Formats: sequence, C-alpha cells, structure tokens
Amino acid sequence: MIIPTNSRLPGFYKHSVDERLALVQGIAELTEDDLLSLRQAAGFDCDSADRMVENAIGVFPLPLGIAANFRINGEDILLPMAVEEPSVLAAASNAANLLRDGDGILTTSTEPIMIGQIQVLDFGDLTETRRRLEARAEALVAKANSVNTRLTDRGGGARALIVREFPETAVGPMIVLHLEVNVCDAMGANIINTMVEAIAPDVEAITEGRVRLRILSNLADKRLVRAQGRVPVARLARGDWSGEEVARGIVEASVMADVDPYRAATHNKGAMNGVDAFLVAAGQDWRAVEAGCHAYAARDGRYRSLSRWGIDGDTLVGTIEIPMQVGVVGGITKTHSVVKVVHKILGYPSAARLGEIAAASGLAQNLAAIMALATDGIQRGHMGMHARNIASEAGARPEEVAAVVAELKKVRDYSSVAAASALLKVRGAA
Ligand code: MEV
Repeated sequence: MIIPTNSRLPGFYKHSVDERLALVQGIAELTEDDLLSLRQAAGFDCDSADRMVENAIGVFPLPLGIAANFRINGEDILLPMAVEEPSVLAAASNAANLLRDGDGILTTSTEPIMIGQIQVLDFGDLTETRRRLEARAEALVAKANSVNTRLTDRGGGARALIVREFPETAVGPMIVLHLEVNVCDAMGANIINTMVEAIAPDVEAITEGRVRLRILSNLADKRLVRAQGRVPVARLARGDWSGEEVARGIVEASVMADVDPYRAATHNKGAMNGVDAFLVAAGQDWRAVEAGCHAYAARDGRYRSLSRWGIDGDTLVGTIEIPMQVGVVGGITKTHSVVKVVHKILGYPSAARLGEIAAASGLAQNLAAIMALATDGIQRGHMGMHARNIASEAGARPEEVAAVVAELKKVRDYSSVAAASALLKVRGAA
C-alpha cells in the first residue's frame, strides 16, 4: 500500500513538534499509540533492548524527523530520518524540493540477489577441482534451496553457484565459491548464512579440500539500486549565483570526487548521510549497506564517488548507483515500536522500494552538500542549524533558544563566547 499524500509541507520546520506530529498523523493515519511511540519511544524499553542484544543496560534515543518534498517515481513520500547531525533533514528537504521541479527522483532496482561465500583450501589440482564443482553446481543449488522452501515458495531461492579462483595466496591456492540467492523481501544475511553452512560439507566432499569461511558478502553488487534526479538549471540560482554558475560548480565538485579519493570519501559521506539516516529510521542494518557502498565505490580499483552530476541542455542531472541490502521481513521491522510506525508512514514498502527510497535520500543529500560547497560553503547553513545546540550549551533555557540563535545569526559568529554574550544580551533585554 502506498499512501497517497503530498510531501510538500511548506513551513514544516517552523511548526512545533506537536504540530508536525499532528500533520504527519493526518497524512499517515497514525493512532494515538503510534504517536506515543514517536514521542517517547513507548513500547521500546529495557526489556525490548534485553531481548535484542546481550548485556543491555538501557536504550539509546536519536532524533527522528521527516524530510519533506520527496517525490519518487511519481509518488510523494514523507521521508523519515533518524540522525544526530543538524542540517541533514533541512538539506534533504531543500534538495528534494529542487528535484521535484525536475519531476522528482526516478529509481530502479535489480533483482534482490545476495551472495554467499564459501572459502575452500587444501584441495588438489585447481582445474580438476573447478571441473568437479561446476559439474555439481546444480545439485548444490538444489540442496541450498532445500533448507528454505518458504523462500522458493515466494519465488526466491538460490540461483547459481560460481567458482572463483585465487591460485596464489599467502595460505596457498584458494577457491571462493559464490552462491547467488534471490532473497525476496529479506535483507538476506540469515538466509544466505544458513544456505552456505548447509552446503559446506558437500563442498568439502566434492573438492576433497577443507572449507573455512561460510558467510554472506556485503559487497552486494548484484542487488543494486539506481536513483536519478533532474533540476532545471534556472532553479539553482541563489544569491549572487546564476543557475548556470551553480550547476557548473556542482559538476566540478562531482568530477573532483571522481578523480580524487580524498574528496570521494567526503562526497560519499555526504550521500550516506541521507542513506543512513533513512536506514536507521527504517530499522535496517546500515553497517552492511555502508560496507557495500564503499566497496562498490572502489570496484574498478580506485575509490570513486557513488554519484555523478552532469548538465543535459538546461537541466542538471544526477545519478547514484549503490548496492542495497535491506529487508522488510525479519530484523526489527516488525518488533521495534518506532520502526513499525516509520514503516506505516512509508506505506509499508517492499524491500526494493525501501532501498530505492534510501538511494533517493542519498542523491538529494549529496546534491544539497555539493551545491552548498560549490557556492557559499558548508559552514553558513550548517552553523545556522547548529546554533540551537550552541545556544543550549551556553545555558539558554528552551524559551530563550530562539532569541539567542537570532543574535548569533545577526553577528554570524557561532562560537561559545558569542553564544554567552548573546545570552546575556537576551536576558538583559527581557
Ligand atoms: C558533512 O556531514 C557532509 C559533507 O562533508 C559532504 C560533502 O562534503 O559533500 C558536507
């Protein structure tokens, strides 16, 4: 089910938390229990934590916000993000607004194929071992499927067994088998690990070798999502900058990230700000996605940017392509009280749709970051957002924060000294 909605929420940021909640409640038909979950993580307590991890001593809250203006494949969507960094939600919303004018973000994904690896050592002749494995590949795939018939019933399952050779390693010749599995709507780690462990004894028998590791690969390069967005160049104009100048700056930033790994790491971090904040809110294993994305960024031997920006006529066009190992069955998607509400807000997406939203979020975040970098620089907007924290740290009471922030913005100085003197001024005026 996709909730028909309008994600344009003008002035959303100016509302109080309660007003924002009421707006989201209206759009996503949230119940009073849902609101309690969002407001105070009701339903997620120490007992929940204790069931989830070992040695639990408490729970760890993060801010949850909604990024506005997202339009993905023609549908508006409220995009939840859980993140501690100021600016991320505002930046995503601003960029999504620009991308909307180019008809929103268009996404596609491949089949959800994950890879399981089996390491084989101490076998005899490499060529003969490969021949034997390839001759038995179909039987091994069938055996892998026999351990998870629910997956095959849903149209998924193991599809292929690939033999990869490493003739010379520090521990002798090595074969690494890849079991490719369509994991449907699951993230896939448990499915894959169970399958590779199940067929490992057969692999040992066939190879007369020794199996060591049996584990999924987080370089999920057979499970990719692609998001593309367009912005009319004229829409990029800001301050003294023309749209053409901003577009050119964005393209130059994109090229720098392509040629220089030092920049690519930061460029990709900016995109992952959007991907991860969404994945955390949606209860996903964001570490797996992080690992996959960075490995994918280095797939041609040099670490590069995950996104590309170019100009097509009078339009800026950006594309991001990333491996996406996410799931909507298993994990904490049906057990974590806040994550459950997030999925309701999202209209209970499939794993593919969830991954596409993550990529769209990354693309928008990346656009916002490099647009700021290519023009005014990042600190102006960032410190403006961070000013509320600085005011609180200087001792401003909640009712004083807005006035202190206004003072800081006036003097464009966000130091703790400036915050202390702004607070004195505010209190003096009161
Ligand atoms: C900060 O969290 C992210 C940026 O450094 C990303 C970038 O440089 O592209 C602003």
